[in-house]
Amino acid sequence: MTGTTGQVGGALCGPLANLGEVISVNRTQLDLSRPETIADSLDQLKPDLVVNPAAYTAVDRAENERSLAFRVNAEAPWAIDVWAARYNVPLIQFSTDYMFDGSGERPWCEDDVPAPLSTYGESKLVKPPSVLPTVSI
Ligand SMILES: NC(=O)c1ccc[n+]([C@@H]2O[C@H](COP(=O)([O-])OP(=O)(O)OC[C@H]3O[C@@H](n4cnc5c(N)ncnc54)[C@H](OP(=O)(O)O)[C@@H]3O)[C@@H](O)[C@H]2O)c1
Repeated sequence: MTGTTGQVGGALCGPLANLGEVISVNRTQLDLSRPETIADSLDQLKPDLVVNPAAYTAVDRAENERSLAFRVNAEAPWAIDVWAARYNVPLIQFSTDYMFDGSGERPWCEDDVPAPLSTYGESKLVKPPSVLPTVSI
């Protein structure tokens, strides 16, 4: 699992440890800002399941770091997805309400039309190639 120093990854560590061995992977071992290195890193780590809450989450700073935001939030998950599909390894990836424009009164659904208002939202919108079913949690 990536992103275990973050809010979501940190919260998942305990519950997932009840289900099996959780290997916490930091940015030295799997650097999402370098998508071209992802396949080699995963070849070494050989996970049975990839849980990827790591992300570029600096919403305001992303306006000035668009390339980095897209590498971490779009290209790296894409590379993980390609690797995971090749080895039939499940991937759990996290989305965000920043994909939507904030209008309306009800909670967002996966089928709602995305309309990101920020670079961060745009970077999180890019779909990986093997689009798996989404689940609400
Ligand atoms: N928290 C929420 O309420 C919330 C709500 C909706 C959606 N989400 C989604 O949930 C996911 C996690 O959000 P979060 O709030 O947990 O984020 P966060 O607290 O900012 O944590 C981000 C994590 O990503 C890691 N990371 C950043 N850049 C990296 C890189 N280049 N390579 C490897 N790891 C890197 C960070 O590691 P370092 O410690 O090394 O920086 C950190 O562990 C995101 O996809 C976000 O869109 C979160």
